[in-house]
Amino acid sequence: MKISVRGIFYLKVVIHLSAIATLTWLAYLVDQDLLGADPVKELTHFLGKTALNFLLLSLAITPVIKRFKQPLLIRVRRLLGLYSFAWVSLHLLVFIWLDLQWEFLLFFDEVIKRPYLSFGAVALIILLLLSITSITAIKKKMKKSWLTLHRFVYWAALFATIHYYWSVKSGLIEPTIYLAICFYLLSERKQYFRTLLKFR
Ligand code: HEM
Repeated sequence: MKISVRGIFYLKVVIHLSAIATLTWLAYLVDQDLLGADPVKELTHFLGKTALNFLLLSLAITPVIKRFKQPLLIRVRRLLGLYSFAWVSLHLLVFIWLDLQWEFLLFFDEVIKRPYLSFGAVALIILLLLSITSITAIKKKMKKSWLTLHRFVYWAALFATIHYYWSVKSGLIEPTIYLAICFYLLSERKQYFRTLLKFR
């Protein structure tokens, strides 16, 4: 059975509602001081994980479309990508605001000194560029180069997953699962990586 236009509409509504519910739940936990002994760390982790989940979900759309022949699903890919950027912006905001108290020099120092943060920063810059250029008018102006740029999402996913793996001090099972999922999703784009290697 093919998903209809109405089905896509409901799917988008579910995505928006789940984002609103998550944000409300998070605000409640903060307000009631229920985030445990280290609330800032908890918040950073939660927001980072949610951003990564949305990013990997957006990458899963194309393989799902191909395997289950659901062409209309393409209409939710941009939304998932934009939500990933929104969550990662909050992740960064919490880090700069609550961890570093707006010390921008310290922020750049940290990003340069700690490789796991450098990987996160590269992923974030890619997501920022992809979000800006997802505006239809810009997309039209960019023509073919739009697709070239948007394929950088693969690198964003890889860098973000490495950032996660590297940030963890103990309990490597979960980040390893995320890396495996990321590699699986990238293996579905073998052609892109083969072409890249040919041009080198
Ligand atoms: C400039 C960009 C970024 C900065 C400064 C940053 C900062 C951080 C920090 C401070 C932590 C906590 C490390 C610790 O516990 O000691 C963290 C963890 C994490 N970040 Fe980022 N991050 C950035 C980009 C990203 C991006 C682009 C993603 C995903 C799309 C992401 C996803 C995660 C995840 C999943 C974790 C681990 C959460 C957990 O352990 O449960 N981050 N990040």
